[in-house]
Amino acid sequence: MGRIAYVNGAYVRHADAAVHIEDRGYQLADAIYEVWSMSDGRLCDPEGHFARLERSLGELSIVMPMSRAALTTVLRETVRRNHIREGLVYLQVSRGVAPRDHAFPTQPVPPAVVVTVKRVDPDAAEARAAAGVGVITTLENRWGRCDIKTVGLLPNVLAKQAARAAGAGEAWFIDAEGKVTEGASSNAWIVTADGVLVTRDTSANILRGVTRATLLDVARSENIRIEERAFSLEEALAAREAFFTGAGALLMPVVAIDGRQIGTGHPGPVATRLRSLYIATARAAAI
Ligand code: PDD
Repeated sequence: MGRIAYVNGAYVRHADAAVHIEDRGYQLADAIYEVWSMSDGRLCDPEGHFARLERSLGELSIVMPMSRAALTTVLRETVRRNHIREGLVYLQVSRGVAPRDHAFPTQPVPPAVVVTVKRVDPDAAEARAAAGVGVITTLENRWGRCDIKTVGLLPNVLAKQAARAAGAGEAWFIDAEGKVTEGASSNAWIVTADGVLVTRDTSANILRGVTRATLLDVARSENIRIEERAFSLEEALAAREAFFTGAGALLMPVVAIDGRQIGTGHPGPVATRLRSLYIATARAAAI
């Protein structure tokens, strides 16, 4: 059974799926995206991702291509046609197709919509989380609107590639004050020596992670002490535990930063518990 993609109103063979060469997403990164994790064929954290999608589009004055209900139908139908139960759903919305010009098209064009679905092996993901991963750090070099989930990801791409080349699973950006902002495709967290869960506040130039928001709710219901604030690389190196969150990794324990061991060098109890609680919570609310 081959993969199927949704492209501008049609379900097509993934191998044949294509967008126009003057799609503004392709030429100018004038596009936004969302990624949902899937559990048993259903979309996790639906509300948070739809809300952020609408916000990203609004910030760029791109119209919502269809209603939430219609989009939900398209996402689910793409999942169904791919026969995938565990994986990731990718949605990209660009401003549309127009002759190349930096400014918006003078005649309104319809946004271009693409949906793809990718299988994830849940056993491999669990094994990875059970072992934990290393992260590297890199200087923050992105624009000032990281709260918008745009496809303009070149700094993230280079950071992630540097992580891969170093045998690490993620790269954490460090700002000019020496504070961790977030990962190349995830939000960063630590558990301090006295057991406080710390993650960067969303007034900073970071993506407002949907997994982050759900996990904060989970941690609150567990009565874990939480501080949403900046933390330095030094504080992270001295932390009892560290981890990162995102639709891709869900919650991934960090066992080393820049080759220096964090805590015991193994996934800690807080990260391990929060991962399973997050997965159970997301599963229960998936649509
Ligand atoms: N990335 N920060 C950045 C820079 C991200 O790209 C992501 C997600 C997150 C976590 O957001 P969320 O919890 O809503 O997935 C934080 C997705 C998974 C990606 O680019 O594939």
